[in-house]
Amino acid sequence: MDKPKVVLGVAGGIAAYKACELLRRLTESGHDVQVVPTESALHFVGEATWSALSGHPVATQVWSGAHEVPHVRIGQSADLVVVAPATADLLAKAAHGLADDLLTNTLLTARCPVVFAPAMHTEMWEHPATQENVATLRRRGAVVVEPAVGRLTGVDTGKGRLPDPEEIYEVCRRVLARGVAAPDLAGRHVVVSAGGTREPLDPVRYLGNRSSGKQGYALARTAAARGARVTLIEANTGMTDPAGVDVVHVGTARQLREAVLKAVADADAVVMAAAVADFRPAAYAEGKIKKKDDEEPAPLTLIRNPDILAEISANRPHPGQVVVGFAAETDDVLDNGRRKLRRKGCDLLVVNEVGESRTFGAASNEAVVLAADGAETPVPYGPKEALADIVWDLVGPRLEDVETRH
Ligand code: CTP
Repeated sequence: MDKPKVVLGVAGGIAAYKACELLRRLTESGHDVQVVPTESALHFVGEATWSALSGHPVATQVWSGAHEVPHVRIGQSADLVVVAPATADLLAKAAHGLADDLLTNTLLTARCPVVFAPAMHTEMWEHPATQENVATLRRRGAVVVEPAVGRLTGVDTGKGRLPDPEEIYEVCRRVLARGVAAPDLAGRHVVVSAGGTREPLDPVRYLGNRSSGKQGYALARTAAARGARVTLIEANTGMTDPAGVDVVHVGTARQLREAVLKAVADADAVVMAAAVADFRPAAYAEGKIKKKDDEEPAPLTLIRNPDILAEISANRPHPGQVVVGFAAETDDVLDNGRRKLRRKGCDLLVVNEVGESRTFGAASNEAVVLAADGAETPVPYGPKEALADIVWDLVGPRLEDVETRH
């Protein structure tokens, strides 16, 4: 099979160096990448780097190699165009159909999905001109990834950072596999919890669980791809922040509860994919607990943690909020799942069977989604992203009309 053809457009911003990592990730995973930097991008990363990493000569001008008509050929033959970083200037040109260099020409001739990963100073990103250009590009079907929040060039921090290259790669991979998702969650705020809480015993020890957070991350990424504003509350996953998602980092069940309660106030849907510890040590030792040669260890006393899922299901800020829980079961999977759905009071419960070698840390999952109205949706073994899409497919029709709510 032919390798998928990706055009990597690079505009002139300091984040251009991060595009090298994206390029490496794309080529290593079997993509044929043609890099098209703008003239100003070459001030940040030179031609030799792009051509060495891509294995192709790099063109920036429409008149280099004019006999091959590169400004038409490159765009026409691409399966995906990704521009990373996309500067305010590049977004403006793309939105208005300007074509004064090879990259902007390529954007006009491409008929494949286009992903823009903007990076700029916060003021430039927030300027109405940029926001209107982004809205125009999205309306035409382009994917514009929200910039990350964090340290920008120099001393300032804010929204405008290029998301992690690995996460831009994830966006590209999904768009290549499934096309541009319909923005059916546009205008919605969804909250996803992911990972596993850690309940400290002393400054160096904790009670934890084996949740990797992959399912929660897949839910966050797919919701963002479908146009939602996403708040991801993650506990101890160690994973990089998904592109275009607001991430809150927590450690314990009580911190997770606080973050969830805050985020759900204006949420349309909440998915509790995190493995929340049901119990925590009754006492926390301020200093490390030392062993004593002549004494048996003191028994560990545990106390209950709050049940966040039950609490948010019972106290919804508006009646139309959709609440989804997860249940990991080892025995009587469906019966336990049905009882749990009733006990927790949520609308949907995703039930998976778990064991030593199943589900935890794996990229794939098999499940049944139980609904409070009695519906059951079996989800065959497959990628966690496919399960995530099915969850959003089931959440979508249950969401309150935007008009009724606002
Ligand atoms: N959950 C929660 N708060 C807790 C424990 C769990 O919000 N203190 C949520 C999880 O995020 C998940 C769902 O509840 O969505 C199911 O968690 P699980 O631990 O399987 O349910 P339990 O009610 O604790 O049942 P079990 O008796 O199996 O432990």
